[in-house]
Amino acid sequence: MSTNTAANTAPNTAIVLARRPTGQLRVDDFRKVDLPMPTISDGEMLVEHRLFSMDAGFRNWMNEGSGDGYLAAMALGEPVMSLTLGTVVASKRPDFAAGDQFMGRLAWTRFSKAGPDDFVTRLPKDLRFPLSYYAGVLGGTGMTAYFGVEDIARPRGGDVAVVSAAAGAVGNVAGQLLKAAGAYVIGISGSAEKCAVLEKEFGFDATINYRQEDLNTGLKRLCPEGMDIFFDNVGGTTLNTALHHVREFARVVLCGSVSTYESADGKPIPGPDNLFDMVTKRVLLKGFMYTDEAGRYPEAMAGLEGALRSGALRNAEYKLKGIESAPQAFCDMLAGKNLGKTLVEL
Ligand SMILES: NC(=O)c1ccc[n+]([C@@H]2O[C@H](COP(=O)([O-])OP(=O)(O)OC[C@H]3O[C@@H](n4cnc5c(N)ncnc54)[C@H](OP(=O)(O)O)[C@@H]3O)[C@@H](O)[C@H]2O)c1
Repeated sequence: MSTNTAANTAPNTAIVLARRPTGQLRVDDFRKVDLPMPTISDGEMLVEHRLFSMDAGFRNWMNEGSGDGYLAAMALGEPVMSLTLGTVVASKRPDFAAGDQFMGRLAWTRFSKAGPDDFVTRLPKDLRFPLSYYAGVLGGTGMTAYFGVEDIARPRGGDVAVVSAAAGAVGNVAGQLLKAAGAYVIGISGSAEKCAVLEKEFGFDATINYRQEDLNTGLKRLCPEGMDIFFDNVGGTTLNTALHHVREFARVVLCGSVSTYESADGKPIPGPDNLFDMVTKRVLLKGFMYTDEAGRYPEAMAGLEGALRSGALRNAEYKLKGIESAPQAFCDMLAGKNLGKTLVEL
């Protein structure tokens, strides 16, 4: 147990959700506010954030009534929920001490308190890679790609694999892991520049810029015999189109649905129109949440670190600086300005 009085006099600031976003997220859906420095009781600790991880899935929980079995909807006027990395300033809980570095699900504040009900894990004392890697390629992003590939895609040499949002944080890692496992990997992305980088620097065999070429045409062109694996981060019409190109015994990794998080009118998203094809082709479609696999994080970390060391996996980051840039960073990510993991450094 320890305390730090210096931090108790420092100003605290936060970015709160100012109103419910309708449709496309805007920077003025958020507001910067001053907050008192949190005071901690027994069982709590005071933490200082150093990095915010921008995670596309959190856009869903900004919507009214979006609470589900996984997370509650974010509250209006409250700091925006986020995965964060930082340092423990003072601790009155037995499992953390001042100076420990952590990754947790807290909020866009400079300082927070974290009690036993908050999801917070300690990072190793001596980090083997830069801190930002533990928010991305060695954090939730990398773990998501790892479990989706290992448990559901289960690549075999010669498989044809297609990844949507392939230049994004999860998609970029998933594509590289599929490539390392011997698959022929096709990435779908929304800009010519990002497609070129995926092919030249990240080992993708081919790419489709969905803003330039109709996806159906692109898939016919690049995988005329169909695909064995679809690693889907986008959902909606992208998923529907891709399901028309799966082969017998294909595996479809239902990782996310970023195209549907900003649906403005609240109408149900149309589902796939060919599910009976999945029956006759004996296709596996499986959703997952990486947080269910907490017991296997050391396995995933070892696999991802090994791939980084061997050069099979490269890290990519899109980083903005300062707490006030968090809304812009989140909007940039949804607009596809990022290549790799979107982060805010405080
Ligand atoms: N299951 C899990 O445990 C888990 C964990 C973490 C994340 N996820 C999911 O993984 C996916 C990726 O998340 P991330 O945090 O890594 O974000 P990200 O991929 O880094 O950023 C989102 C990307 O999605 C693309 N995009 C945005 N709107 C789109 C649209 N309407 N149609 C097609 N593409 C669109 C954009 O790239 P382009 O448009 O340029 O391609 C953008 O860069 C999300 O669906 C998220 O929910 C799942």
